[in-house]
Amino acid sequence: MRSIKNETNLGGKKILLRLDLNVPIVKGKISDTTRIDKILPTLKFLNKQKAKIIILSHVGRPRGKALNELSLKPICENLKEQLGLNVKLITQNINEVKNKDFFDNFDEEILMLENIRFYEEEEKNDNKFAKHLASFGDIYVNDAFSCSHRSHASIVEISKFLPSFSGLQIDSEIDALTKITSKITKPISCIIGGSKISTKIDIIKNLIPKFDNIIIVGAMANNFIEYFGHNIGKSIKEENCDLIIEQIISLSKKEKCEISFPEDVLVSKDLNGSYKKRKLNEILNDEMILDIGPRTIDKITNIIDSSKTILWNGPAGYFENPNFANGSIEIAKTIIKNNKLNKIFSVVGGGDTVSLLNSMKAVDGFNFVSTAGGAFLEYLEGKKLPGITALNQ
Ligand code: 3PG
Repeated sequence: MRSIKNETNLGGKKILLRLDLNVPIVKGKISDTTRIDKILPTLKFLNKQKAKIIILSHVGRPRGKALNELSLKPICENLKEQLGLNVKLITQNINEVKNKDFFDNFDEEILMLENIRFYEEEEKNDNKFAKHLASFGDIYVNDAFSCSHRSHASIVEISKFLPSFSGLQIDSEIDALTKITSKITKPISCIIGGSKISTKIDIIKNLIPKFDNIIIVGAMANNFIEYFGHNIGKSIKEENCDLIIEQIISLSKKEKCEISFPEDVLVSKDLNGSYKKRKLNEILNDEMILDIGPRTIDKITNIIDSSKTILWNGPAGYFENPNFANGSIEIAKTIIKNNKLNKIFSVVGGGDTVSLLNSMKAVDGFNFVSTAGGAFLEYLEGKKLPGITALNQ
């Protein structure tokens, strides 16, 4: 991939910049600005080079319809405020916009096209639409890793019509992901949680041959606990998973990757309740597992302490109730401690895990925190992301 950060001759060039500004907006207000904050260095870099920036982004899934509630207006306002630059939202139908009308001599530093998914051609990866978009600029930059698993016009097809580059953010995302999938410093361990094993099976299978340890936590660990003969009471579990568990166990034996699951747990009779510590053979029929117990925390912290690379995806328990946040908090603290000592390289991803770290104000304690959802998971599954492939062609 050619990176825009190595280009110096960008003055006066019109850059079509695909970003993922898909932030949560409730009643016109942005409730989490992380994705906007992370992209500021790219915008500042291009602005410093005196490039003319035309932002392409989507919010939500309007499915080809112009919906007021999914306008990029609040994001445009936020960017204006954070950058102190003149950012203008183009609300006209872009199919009716001719290059000469808007883009040849604009005075603003940054233009932003309205939600690109208001046009049904976007998700169809429509060639004509992509060509029309490309006609607005001189250079295309993709800095939206979290959209790069989508074969959409502003991500894939557009790169056929312009010199195309990766952005600063996508570069650092891929650099971090490479360090946990190919250029690995061993020992490497993964802590993986979530409610359904079936949604993570492809990741686990892809990681087993490369990883030394995979630690299963969260609700999907309940299936492992039950598989090994323990009563899990009324805990959440996924049905018909024995075959998946058997596949994981046999592959891990073959590849010499140690699979761990909780050895003790915290339970409650309801989600809002307080906790009781339980060994695995002590769980009662009316109890549910909501966090890992102290012995399991010790085991996980020992594994982290002896690892040089860590990947964490999925909290250890039901952290929304503070009584069951301890396992995840201890994992976070141990990684942060090792990071401060420069003893590990750590990558964290997944919506719930990132929310937990945000609530702990701990995001800066990790080498890389990915805000990509589906794209992060598909990359870990070993899939090729069409947006990245397009930049390489
Ligand atoms: C995301 O939030 O993961 C990206 O913006 C992609 O959104 P999508 O899942 O609606 O394609």
